[in-house]
This record gives sequence, structure tokens and C-alpha cells, in this order.
Amino acid sequence: MALRVEEVSLKYLTTSVEKTVWLGEQLGIQLTDGDIIALIGDLGGGKTWFTKGVAIGLEIGPDYVVSPTFTLVNEYRGRHQLFHIDLYRLKNKAEIMALDLEGYLSGEGIVVLEWADRWPGELPEETIQVELRMVDEHSRELTFSGSHLRARQIIGTLRDKVGLSLKRLR
Ligand SMILES: Nc1ncnc2c1ncn2[C@@H]1O[C@H](COP(=O)(O)OP(=O)(O)OP(=O)(O)O)[C@@H](O)[C@H]1O
Ligand SMILES: [Mg+2]
Repeated sequence: MALRVEEVSLKYLTTSVEKTVWLGEQLGIQLTDGDIIALIGDLGGGKTWFTKGVAIGLEIGPDYVVSPTFTLVNEYRGRHQLFHIDLYRLKNKAEIMALDLEGYLSGEGIVVLEWADRWPGELPEETIQVELRMVDEHSRELTFSGSHLRARQIIGTLRDKVGLSLKRLR
């Protein structure tokens, strides 16, 4: 009988860019080769700022992540390699398929995928999804979810580390 794995989900409210970056850093600190972070949510939700935090956690430094909106894939080296991919400008599945991005997901390094819901296929089961929703001008609701063992482990550690530092919504 197949083991049913329940999805875990963790939700925080950040009330400033700095807090969103800090939360990204707490995730980034934990990441290692092969980890995949799928970012979804509102336009201007904070995906690129969150990615800066992930980069800081990977010891890449805050100046190295610029919005990849016009370059599609940005590659950085810190504690591990980070591939920051943004699918925003890609219009259809055929266009995304033609770019042959699958190799990034199965190779070494860490992948942060902005607008991951535009990805045409299934993402690997270990993917951690982070949804960023705009609440008001300075507040964003960030929901972390995943069901694979690795994702559950990372989200569990995140919950322990964030503790009472941010308002927990769920
Ligand atoms: N709590 C917050 N967390 C993150 N960004 C915030 C917050 N409050 C306000 N902002 C603002 O929201 C914007 C988020 O920009 P960012 O480029 O990170 O979003 P994005 O989700 O990557 O956008 P896009 O959909 O264009 O890729 C910035 O202008 C930032 O200053
Ligand atoms: Mg962005």
C-alpha cells in the first residue's frame, strides 16, 4: 500500500521588505544542492525580494540578485550554486518547453523559480512552494507548503527558527 503523505503548510505575515528578505534568508540557510523553490502569487508580491533573502542565506550577498525579469535565468555562486529563473515574460508552454529548462531542475545547484505556476509540466515532488500574496502596501502573506519528506523537514525547521519573530497566520 502506498504511503499517503500529507502536505504541510506554514503561513506568516511580513510587514516590511526587510522581514520578507529575512524570511527568505531563513529558508536559504537550509538549502542544499537539488532543492527547488517554486514562487507563486501576486504581481509585486515580493518574489524577487524573497529570492534576495534566499541568496543571503546561501552566502551569495545581497547585491547579487537582481530581478531576472529580462534575463530569464540568473546564476550565482555562494555556498551552493543558485539558479534564479523567472517565467513571467514567457507567454506559452511551447516557448517555455523550447528553452529546455528541465536540466536545471534535475542538475546540481538550487533552483528558485519565479511564476512557477507557468511551468508547463509537473515540478519534482520535493519542490517547496512559496505563495506571496499582497495584503496591503507594506504587508505580504507568505505560505510555505510541500509534501515530500525533504520539504516537510525544511518547513518544520523554518517554523522552529522563525518562532515568534513574525506573525504566524496558520
Ligand atoms: N512586506 C513586503 N515584502 C516584500 N515586498 C514588499 C513588502 N512591502 C512592500 N513591498 C514592495 O513590493 C514590491 C515587491 O517587489 P518584488 O519585485 O519583490 O515582487 P515580485 O513578486 O518579484 O514582482 P513580479 O511579480 O513583478 O516578479 C517592492 O516594490 C517592495 O518594495
Ligand atoms: Mg519578480
